[in-house]
Order: sequence, then structure tokens, then C-alpha cells
Amino acid sequence: MPKKMRDKVKDLLQQEEEQSGVLVKGWVRTRRDSKGGFSFIEINDGSCLAGIQVVADHKLESYASASPHLHTGSCVAIKGNLVVSPAKGQKWELQASEISVYGSADAEKYPLQKKQHSFEFLREIAHLRPRTNTFGAVMRVRNRLAYSIHKFFQDRGFVYLHTPIITTSDCEGAGEMFQVTTLDLSKPPVNDGKIDYGHDFFGERTGLTVSGQLEGEIYALALSDIYTFGPTFRAENSNTSRHLAEFWMVEPEMAFYELEDDMDLAEEFVKFLFRDVLENCQEDMEFFNKRINKTILETLRNVVDHEFERIHYSDAIHLLEKSSEKFIYSVEWGCNLQSEHERYLSEKVFKKPVIIYNYPEEIKPFYMKLNEDHETVRAMDVLLPNLGEIIGGSQREDDLDVLHKRMREKELDPEEYWWYLDLRRYGSAPHSGFGLGFERLVQFVTGMENIRDVIPFPRTPKHAKF
Ligand code: 4AD
Ligand code: MG
Repeated sequence: MPKKMRDKVKDLLQQEEEQSGVLVKGWVRTRRDSKGGFSFIEINDGSCLAGIQVVADHKLESYASASPHLHTGSCVAIKGNLVVSPAKGQKWELQASEISVYGSADAEKYPLQKKQHSFEFLREIAHLRPRTNTFGAVMRVRNRLAYSIHKFFQDRGFVYLHTPIITTSDCEGAGEMFQVTTLDLSKPPVNDGKIDYGHDFFGERTGLTVSGQLEGEIYALALSDIYTFGPTFRAENSNTSRHLAEFWMVEPEMAFYELEDDMDLAEEFVKFLFRDVLENCQEDMEFFNKRINKTILETLRNVVDHEFERIHYSDAIHLLEKSSEKFIYSVEWGCNLQSEHERYLSEKVFKKPVIIYNYPEEIKPFYMKLNEDHETVRAMDVLLPNLGEIIGGSQREDDLDVLHKRMREKELDPEEYWWYLDLRRYGSAPHSGFGLGFERLVQFVTGMENIRDVIPFPRTPKHAKF
């Protein structure tokens, strides 16, 4: 048994019997004094959404010195007995025998006095927002999802692979890499009018990874089934409620999987995660259902209980073209689907998750496997209602000549990717994978509107302070 430092509020609230000699440590949420000579102090320690009600008799020896510091936000330690509460709405309360204050919080200045604050305001106090109900609940659900991602893959024998954060390859080819350099930007070494990266730390131009996929493929073609789960960076100037410059991505990569197997795994994965949260985060999920999005529980149960729709990109275009909906971006075969199109399909047409696959070759990266029609690639996107894309994946091109040709068409230098091509030279195999945006997952599950409110410290254009 690990050493017991204190009693967690979560454990106390789940007790079956009264208990003496309890020690609770946490932050004061509210304090109320009764005329009868008692104070009622609600303590939250983040172990669960609910706090524990402490009843402090004003005659307690430690009360006089503690009382001036018992404000919302103060940090305290309370010894006492856990007893059945006579008050309505709570099973237990803690009868204090001793109160000590770790750190007081000025009642005039503590920013979290009011019950309700806007999420915009809370983003400006990212160092205090974890003490609110919403952020506590978001972070506990986020934690559970991270755990259950590992559980899903570990139970299936996948190997957790750590891919590099600093890299020379722009996997998605979208030119959204943040540069990493130790060159003096005020006077960089120049050769022939161009910056000479030979003098840079790594001797060549490097950046922060946009995806661990290419390195993931290397290991899948040796260990068969792997997954990555780590920070990912994109310098895309998208100021939307679904984009971050730094986000976490889960990327499984499987040898011997074709696109259909990839879609099956993606669907099973999403359902597993939703089911796990419904079963193991009940208190927090009920909070979201009450306070954030009144249909979130129903939505998650619906996703778990129904098959995802799967349609070809061409059929999706057809549905969009014949719809009477007014879109901002017009639709024709070959276009990138915008989020309004994706949402229309999943929310209005199918009313459930949709997997769109077989996208035009021209709008997708070099590594995706070319179909026999030579016009489309074996790509798939999983779209969720009210969110849009949560997963992007594909079967990878495993034919050396076709890959070579596609790289040249996309103006990539095959020499730079010699190692990637080697995988097709030596023991090539069909393989597939996908990437799931972890924050989009947390966003969907909690019903939170803005992706900035489901990551502890969001990085977005013009914002990296804390
Ligand atoms: O569709 P994407 O760009 O796919 C890849 O990076 C592939 N290499 C994955 C693979 O096949 N291994 O990104 C995958 C997912 C998206 O569906 C989205 O959920 C998330 O990553 N994502 C972002 N999430 C937050 N902010 C951003 N700027 C994101 N860009 C992508
Ligand atoms: Mg994508």
C-alpha cells in the first residue's frame, strides 16, 4: 500500500460507514456562518467534482486563528470525523476537530469569487481556472481518455512508440512546420543569397513535427502494430474553435491492414473511448450534460450504439451538390471538404458519424495509396456531428515506383526521403494507419465549445504565454 498522505474527498464520499481520524486537504470553495455558532466550509481537492462539507464549531481551539483566513480560494487542512450529514443533498459531512491554514486568499482580490465566469475570462487566468468545476471535470475526463487510449492499444498488443519532436520532414506537406533553429536571426549565415543551414545546430533545416506517422511506418514494418501518442505542432493560422498550434495526436500504424481494416479499427477505437468515459466518468459527465451541453450523454450513447456511415468521397460530393443547403464554399469533385460540408453530412444527412473515403489524389499527401482508378487515394476521414473531422487516415503507398512518381508530382525530393523509400525496397507490405486529434476527442466528449478549453495551456496564433 502506498503511504497515505491524507484522505481524498473522492474516497470519503464513497465510504459506506462513518469514520474517525480523517484528514482532508484542499481549497475552500464556499464558506457560510450560522447563527448557532458553526461555519460550513466546502472543500474541494480536485479528486472529484463534488466537495466535502466541513462543519466547524466556533468553540474549536483552532477556529479563532483559522477563521480570518477561511475564504474562497484558501488552502486548508482539516482533521475530523466523517459522519452522516443531516443536511439535504449530501450523504456525508466532516465534523472538524482541528483546522489549519496553508495559504490564505484575499477575499477582495481572489479572481474566482463569482460562481460563473465566461470561458474567455478564464483563459486569461489559466493558472487559476483548474480550480473551477468545469476545468476540473475537463481535466479528469481528459486524463481518463488518455488512460483508455493506452488501454485500447495495449490490450490489442500494440507497441507504444515515441517518435521525435524535432524533425526534417513535413509529413503532411502543407508547409505548416514551426522552425527550430539556434541561428542568430538578426544575422544568419548566408550562402548564394540563401540562409546556410549547414551552420545551424543540426546542420540542416529542422522543425517541430506535424505528425509522427512517417517514423511510425518504420516501426510498423518491423513490430507490426504500433501507436504514437504525443505533442504535434502546426503553424496554420486558423483561429477557429477546433484548431490549436500545439495539440496531441494518437497515431496507430498497422502492418498488413488495408483501408477497410483501418476504418474498422478507427470505429472500434472511438466507440471504446466513448463507452469507457460513460462508464468511468459518470459524475463529471453528468455535470457536462447539465451545464455544458444538454444532449451530450445521449449523443455519446448514440455513437456507441450505431454503425458509422461509410461513403465514397464522390458520393459525398454528389449529396452536397444536390442539397438545397446554402454553403459558403461551393462544391465540385476535387475540392477539399470544408467543415460546413462535413457537418452537413454528419448532422443533417446521416445524423451520426460518417467515414468518407477514397479522396481525390490531388488534394491528399504523397504517402497515400493510389487506387486503381489513378484518380483517388485510399484515404479516409472520420467526421462527427457538431465537430467535423476527428480522424484522418489512409492505407499507405507500398509500391516503390508509384510512390516515387507521386513524390515527384508533389515536388518532393526522393533523395531526402531515401529511408522512407527503402521501406518499399526491402520487405514492403501493405500497411495503414490514422491520426486522432486528442483535443478534438476531449472536446466532443465533454461538449465544450472551444478547443482552447480542453487543454491545460492552449497555444494559438498570438498566444503562448501560459
Ligand atoms: O488529418 P491529419 O492532418 O492527419 C495526419 O496528420 C496523418 N499523418 C495521420 C495518420 O495517418 N497517421 O491530422 C489528424 C487529426 C485530425 O483529424 C484532427 O483531429 C487533428 O489531427 N488535428 C488537429 N487538432 C487540433 N488542432 C489542429 N491544428 C489539428 N490539425 C489536425
Ligand atoms: Mg485531415
